[in-house]
Amino acid sequence: MEKYVIHGGNRLLGEVTVSGAKNAALAILPAAILSDEPCIIENVPNISDIDYSIKILNHMGVEVKMINHSTLRIDPRKLRHPVVEYDLAKNMRASYYFLGALLGKTKTAKVSLPGGCDLGSRPIDQHLKGFEALGAKVEIDRGMVCLEGDHLLGAKVDFDVVTVGATINIMLAAVKAEGLTILENAAKEPHIVDLANFLNSMGANIIGAGTDVIKIRGVESLHGTQYSVIPDQIEAGTFMVMAAATGGDVLIKNVIPKHLEAVTSKLQKIGAVVEEYDDSIRVVGTGRLEKTTIKTMPHPGFPTDMQPQITTLLTIANGTSMVTESIFDNRFKYVDELRRMGADITVNGKVAVVEGVSRLTGASVKATDLRAGAALIIAGLAASGTTEIEDVFHVERGYENIENKLKGLGADIKKIVTPDSMVLPKVL
Ligand code: EPU
Repeated sequence: MEKYVIHGGNRLLGEVTVSGAKNAALAILPAAILSDEPCIIENVPNISDIDYSIKILNHMGVEVKMINHSTLRIDPRKLRHPVVEYDLAKNMRASYYFLGALLGKTKTAKVSLPGGCDLGSRPIDQHLKGFEALGAKVEIDRGMVCLEGDHLLGAKVDFDVVTVGATINIMLAAVKAEGLTILENAAKEPHIVDLANFLNSMGANIIGAGTDVIKIRGVESLHGTQYSVIPDQIEAGTFMVMAAATGGDVLIKNVIPKHLEAVTSKLQKIGAVVEEYDDSIRVVGTGRLEKTTIKTMPHPGFPTDMQPQITTLLTIANGTSMVTESIFDNRFKYVDELRRMGADITVNGKVAVVEGVSRLTGASVKATDLRAGAALIIAGLAASGTTEIEDVFHVERGYENIENKLKGLGADIKKIVTPDSMVLPKVL
């Protein structure tokens, strides 16, 4: 078992460089199999979700070579096994992108229903509706989603909810379908645009990504490309909140400030100083921040993936804040952990009411999912005393080298490996 031990109270000072975007890379790696030639993908984050994707690719016969710590060469020419078994799919949500990519490539796909963070119910009905609209036969057999589509035809797909995953999956399946596919009520997140740019660089014909109508004209074949993944806006946003929470002064490099507008404007509203440059953002924490109201929304609204982090910041702001989670059913699990550190939060359904306290105090806590883990790190950095965070594997799914990046900013954090034999059995 691995845990982070943080001695809180240090102001974060200096510069930090953000890695490539997890959620863009997790769509682009499967997309690379649609090519008839090898692709070079740069700025890939070194995180465990990417390791899982590489394992899945290898398992289906795709060759993946690491050219340097953030560049991969993906050669799909020997792909022969269009199947992702439970053992490989269970670790992450994005395993379902192999459905769209395999269907587009081999006209058949068998992928186990996906894992990922437990944020409440996460149906995939919109993905299946989209595959069916393109003419695929869809079956669920003992936990495997099975798709067959000998001749995919472009179609109009009007999503009932705005969904990042289904928008990506249907884009992947439609890119080589015959004719025009129109996605309506599509998600607009930066990683949707990044995937479309990647596919277009391989010869696809996609327009409108970044708006709620995406048009995909199918092409016969796709060629190799060299492409660099966008920076991770959630990692950047997490460092922005860390700077504000510790009264620090941090220059966050390799960011696209436009992707962070919702976070920037909230931080400014509560009293932090945020300066935007071409490809960096500086955040200066200016003493006690003020209460606010947050409601998570699809892009360009306030991202759900920043909700736990900003809620944690509001626990030490002045006054009563309200945070509404409108994307997922159950994304407040971390609140119980924050309460152990002295936070005053009441959750009622999708709304959290946060009464600011003057200080959090260190405690032993557990990361319940990826962004919850990031939130607990923020709490530990801002708290007085020592915080121990268990189950840090959640954090390592999505943040590259976070311990060293934080050390570089002056945080007192270290990762401790406890042999499993030292973990006491639970008393039932
Ligand atoms: N939904 C449906 N039916 C579907 C698909 C989605 O009802 O077929 C609902 C979901 O239950 C949810 C809402 O639509 O209430 C939005 O879900 P979406 O499909 O947009 O989310 P996702 O694809 O499962 C991705 C990211 C998440 C991020 C969300 C929202 C990846 C691998 N995951 O999930 O990232 O929170 O979009 O932006 O890209 C994270 O990085 O920590 C993370 C959880």
